[in-house]
Amino acid sequence: ETNKTFTMIKPDAVAAGHIGAILDQIIKAGFTIKAMKYTYLTAQKAGEFYAVHQGRPFYNDLVSFMSSGPIVAAILEKDNAVADFRTLIGATDPTKADEGTIRKLFAKSIEANAVHGSDSDENAAIEGSFFFSGLEKF
Ligand code: CMP
Repeated sequence: ETNKTFTMIKPDAVAAGHIGAILDQIIKAGFTIKAMKYTYLTAQKAGEFYAVHQGRPFYNDLVSFMSSGPIVAAILEKDNAVADFRTLIGATDPTKADEGTIRKLFAKSIEANAVHGSDSDENAAIEGSFFFSGLEKF
């Protein structure tokens, strides 16, 4: 079944010049880009996006990291999009990510881990709507 996931290329990977290489991997893996923007999260917006992690020990650092520079936000479409994208990016902690995954190739740390990927269809819809209007999501 064709469905959607949401991704961000995080500030570490944008700053390191990896936008093109990461998009190349995403497209070669069979994902279609349905919406995309180069943008910024303020600390307030980053806090809202990651509200589910409020109270976790890494929350404050995560919010300041995610608002430290530009990001790329995108909605991607593919069969089995959420699970296949999580396979493509690898484990949250790049030291535990499989060879060839985006995080193994480009992530710097468990926090500065190059990309975000939604963890469920429900969250993909919520996260896509955080950045994109109905017009862009067509
Ligand atoms: P992401 O998949 O975007 O979801 C939550 C983010 O919190 C995660 O990627 C990391 O960037 C960050 N993070 C930092 N430390 C941890 C941790 N110990 N466990 C999970 N996520 C962490």
